[in-house]
Amino acid sequence: MDLKQKKVYIHTIGCQMNVYDAEQMERGLSPIGYVRTPEIGDADLILLNTCAIRAKAEQKVFSFLGRLVKLKNERPELIIAVGGCVAQQEGKRILSRAPYVDAVFGTHAIGRLPEIIEKIRAGQGPVVDVALSAGEAAFNPFPMSDTGHHPPEKSISSFVTIMQGCDNFCTYCVVPYVRGREASRHPDRIAEEIRTLVAGGVREVTLLGQNVNSYGKKEGLPTFTQLLERISEIEELSRIRFTTSHPKDLSDELIGAFGRIEKLCRHIHLPVQSGSDIILSRMNRKYTRKEYLAKIDRLRGLCPDIAISSDFIVGFPGETGADFQKTLELIQQVRYDSLFAFKYSDRPQAPAARFSEKIDEAVKAERLGEVLDLQQRVTLERHRSLVGQDVQVLVDGYARKNEGRESGRGIQWTGRTDTNKIVNFYGGQDPENTVKGDTGACGEEIFSGRMISVRIKDAFPHSLSGVPLHPAAIGPGTKGEKHHAA
Ligand code: SAH
Ligand code: SF4
Ligand code: F3S
Repeated sequence: MDLKQKKVYIHTIGCQMNVYDAEQMERGLSPIGYVRTPEIGDADLILLNTCAIRAKAEQKVFSFLGRLVKLKNERPELIIAVGGCVAQQEGKRILSRAPYVDAVFGTHAIGRLPEIIEKIRAGQGPVVDVALSAGEAAFNPFPMSDTGHHPPEKSISSFVTIMQGCDNFCTYCVVPYVRGREASRHPDRIAEEIRTLVAGGVREVTLLGQNVNSYGKKEGLPTFTQLLERISEIEELSRIRFTTSHPKDLSDELIGAFGRIEKLCRHIHLPVQSGSDIILSRMNRKYTRKEYLAKIDRLRGLCPDIAISSDFIVGFPGETGADFQKTLELIQQVRYDSLFAFKYSDRPQAPAARFSEKIDEAVKAERLGEVLDLQQRVTLERHRSLVGQDVQVLVDGYARKNEGRESGRGIQWTGRTDTNKIVNFYGGQDPENTVKGDTGACGEEIFSGRMISVRIKDAFPHSLSGVPLHPAAIGPGTKGEKHHAA
């Protein structure tokens, strides 16, 4: 084995699961001598971590690969490996489209990535490994504790995959085909990983699964709510989030958890996809609009301030103008805090690709615009209603645009409320009204990882801004303090 340090560049497309997987890849490659680099030009190994959810995501993969031809020609020893959902879906077909690729590794092959790379270095490439496994073997085995390595950028908040795959087979969706059957990770492994993350400074975890409500059912493990309870006992962890919750499986037990588990953030992502029962049924979502709304009512009954977000697909095959109106009405009725909306995209492996009555691209674009415009108005109204209120913000770090430094207003910090709203604030300029944090080496107050009370002063379409209050809930423990309205 060549022990000289080598560099790996990882390019991730897709959902949070892929972000988590990228960290897994990084940790797996560390024992064979690779460190991550943010500079593609410095890399000895380029990993492309791909997404197949919509045609556009897939196109990104091939355009990125196209740009690598030049690099590979200049440096033939450069190793290029394609992983993730497109790798799983396409397998060796990727090699015929991009013959300079050295390895294709599927969503369950991350544990074998070190061997794959060693093989290529030994001149035994190309390698294609897209085997899917079942049960615990579906989890890639590089927990945090292996190397004591912590996520490089987001050290306050981290993703933790608790489930793999999906058994729901929504008719538009490729996930069951590229991520395999649903499998849950053992609670001991999950708790171990979170403890290690917390020891490294993480204060918030987002538990990931395609359908977290069915956690543990197959394996006879504790329920998802019991898992939440167990994780909430980890000291120094301030906040727990999770995604995604399928409306059909959202149980009263989990709804109850929002009123009971202090550290559980008051936010639920509850993708509905459409407001029309006919479309919901053709999507195989297994709930009606009425059932969905009843769950929203129960959530708000127990936890009135809960933030609710959703996903929508516009232009599903056969979606009429009347169906689409029902979607708009639902958005108005629920008044989501935020939503994601997508134009329906044919996925060759998913059954809806073969449904008739495809909707024109122009109509889809128009419907998408209507949904986004409507939600933008609702979001701004919701944000404005928070002006004057005091909220608890878990600070992530410096805000991206930090004009304050030059203008003399101090450092601008950014964080989120437990309801997942972005709040920016300046810290360090007004002794009357400012929290004194630790003083960093450069004389700046360090707020990262702290829970700060902020009075909201201004509302924008994507964020809020305010001033920190004194005395605020600061301190190294940063307990999950929040005002439970329930
Ligand atoms: N497991 C999650 C969804 C994961 S995919 C759930 O069931 O909620 C994220 C979102 O992508 C979906 O909620 C859906 O809105 C969108 N999506 C999935 N397949 C799509 C397709 N073929 N075309 C357009 N959007 C799609
Ligand atoms: Fe896809 Fe449906 Fe599974 Fe979500 S629940 S991943 S949309 S099949
Ligand atoms: Fe994309 Fe795969 Fe996630 S298809 S959305 S990266 S599970």
